[in-house]
Amino acid sequence: MSVSGHSLMVHFPIALVTVAFLVDLWGYWTRQDRLRETGFLLLVLAGVGAVLAAFLGFQITGLASSIEDLAGDHVGLGVAAAAAIIVLAGWRRYLELRGGALSSVAWQGFRLAELATVALVFWTAYTGHQLR
Ligand code: HEM
Repeated sequence: MSVSGHSLMVHFPIALVTVAFLVDLWGYWTRQDRLRETGFLLLVLAGVGAVLAAFLGFQITGLASSIEDLAGDHVGLGVAAAAAIIVLAGWRRYLELRGGALSSVAWQGFRLAELATVALVFWTAYTGHQLR
């Protein structure tokens, strides 16, 4: 079994988006702004990793035609996961600039969406493993 650049790169968004969510939540519960800032930075890095992973994924699918059927779901999920992380980072920045209570509906909605994105990334990873 050969290891592609995509296989290596995917670990970054998977790990980073998960830790971003946990650190952010921890910062919220303990009211530590530094932790929440770290959560945001990790989210941005997860977005960069996801875009690179998607780019490397497209390089493979451009070459291989035998995996097209299975790759279908994975491609859509992968693109959606990368887009979701980028939207989350922008949303997060907007909430930060707007101010307001961390317990507000807007912030809770963001945390819920971040959790859903973690699930989306794991689902993407699951479908990716099916391709091997
Ligand atoms: C954030 C987005 C993505 C994540 C987290 C992700 C995750 C994964 C994972 C975990 C694997 C299995 C790797 C292994 O078992 O070594 C995989 C395989 C694969 N992915 Fe993705 N993927 C993403 C986006 C994409 C996109 C956008 C494409 C295509 C356009 C793609 C194409 C493939 C292909 C062709 C494979 C099988 C070949 C290989 O593993 O090198 N992926 N992906």
